[in-house]
Amino acid sequence: MKTISVITTGGDAPGMNAAIRSVVRSSLHFGFRVIGFRRGWWGLIERDYLPLGRSSVSNILYRGGTILHTVRCPSFKDISIRRKAARHLKELSPDGLIVIGGDGSMTAAYHLSRISKTPMIGIPASIDNDIAGTDETIGFDTAINTALDATDKIRDTAASHNRIFIVEVMGRKRGFLALSVGITSGAEVILIPEIKWEKDGVIKDLGKTIRTGKNSILIVMAEGAGDPFSLARHIEKNLGRPVRVSNLGYIQRGGSPTVDSRLLASVFGYEAVKSLKKGAGGIMLTWVRDRIGNVPLSYPFKNTKKIDRNLIRLAGILSG
Ligand code: F6P
Repeated sequence: MKTISVITTGGDAPGMNAAIRSVVRSSLHFGFRVIGFRRGWWGLIERDYLPLGRSSVSNILYRGGTILHTVRCPSFKDISIRRKAARHLKELSPDGLIVIGGDGSMTAAYHLSRISKTPMIGIPASIDNDIAGTDETIGFDTAINTALDATDKIRDTAASHNRIFIVEVMGRKRGFLALSVGITSGAEVILIPEIKWEKDGVIKDLGKTIRTGKNSILIVMAEGAGDPFSLARHIEKNLGRPVRVSNLGYIQRGGSPTVDSRLLASVFGYEAVKSLKKGAGGIMLTWVRDRIGNVPLSYPFKNTKKIDRNLIRLAGILSG
């Protein structure tokens, strides 16, 4: 019987469990034995794994996080560590490895695939949605809905107190989360790393909005776009209005996955196993214009995902 393995690495994302479940159940369907490495790459490096059967993935579809646990693993950049991982892979899971994770995880998988004969399939999962080659990653839809729910609640207080709020959302160095949350929450200003902005430009925009008589103002700011506290001080000094900063933080990473995140995870998990069955390897699965596809595993490492300029234009038209 062929043995394949599954691993979740990097930051957790809601829907990772749904993907693990799909990988396991699809493997049983295709007649594979599956093992799961615990704690991301560390499980592979330290031979820490468990067999995964039908019942080991029962009741996990609706749970956030990952039952396999995950860690950030900077030492995977070390070639001797990767060689060790490749040796363990050959011994424990010669017929395939499915890597569920973000941008860094896909890059790590690509580098491992260059020194390992085990076929590898990447499944993009990250709340940041910043992986080149795919329109959507597992977890993004859940994260934007969580952030939107929080932002709507903050709007109530902003409206009641005539306050300006800066809501900081995650996204590392990219603004995909902030742009989606900003548009859908009706933010008056959206600040993302991809678009240059200046504090005085924000003051000008806010001035215009205030003159229209608007009594609540939300600024949705990506964590990679700058320091929200220094912007808050600048606005208070120039406009004489109280500003509050609310950092949504890790609530965006947890929680029960939405329909969208669960479906994407389920489709990706099945497709990953089917790809291994067909003898494929060295690819990352993608979701482009509502269709499943794939790109070489090197693609996210060699390309940068572009932000949708039409959405930026739309944000400019609808805000204020
Ligand atoms: O990549 C997902 C993410 O949540 C980013 O949005 C954020 O910058 C980062 O992870 C936080 O990383 P850590 O979990 O290592 O603190």
